[in-house]
Amino acid sequence: MKFLIINGPNLNLLGLREPDIYGRQDYAALCRFLTESANDAGVEAELFQSNHEGAIVDRIQAAYGVFDGIVINPAAYTHTSVAILDALKAVAIPAVEVHISDVSKRESFRQVSYAGMACVKTYMGLGFEGYRQAILFLRDYLRDGGHGA
Ligand code: DQA
Repeated sequence: MKFLIINGPNLNLLGLREPDIYGRQDYAALCRFLTESANDAGVEAELFQSNHEGAIVDRIQAAYGVFDGIVINPAAYTHTSVAILDALKAVAIPAVEVHISDVSKRESFRQVSYAGMACVKTYMGLGFEGYRQAILFLRDYLRDGGHGA
């Protein structure tokens, strides 16, 4: 089983950016955590981070026929990007949305998630652990033939 794990804008600045919200661990630590979580779950994972909406759309399109599942934290594009929503819908690869912070308790502009409309599940407010749960959920969901949501 092959998963593509996408992180959107400013997540490369983890550790530096608003540590009270996003924690003190950096993006390299997140990458180690993701690789370890995928290994433990028995799935192959490719990691991708970009600050550019079009690059994320391109990566989702290129995932068609290659990846079984997508774990995505679209970061700020969560709340603005119909293009990322459309790309997820176009490839129709089962996807799970992750947010490090609990966006439901933050500003009103963070209350809409476009990407989430194409995802089978969302994890938020669990820090890095949300990604691990997303990987495990997606693995079981796909093993179950896509009926586990
Ligand atoms: C985020 C939440 C978004 O609202 C924000 O723009 C981010 C990170 C999170 O992981 O909590 O960049 O997706």
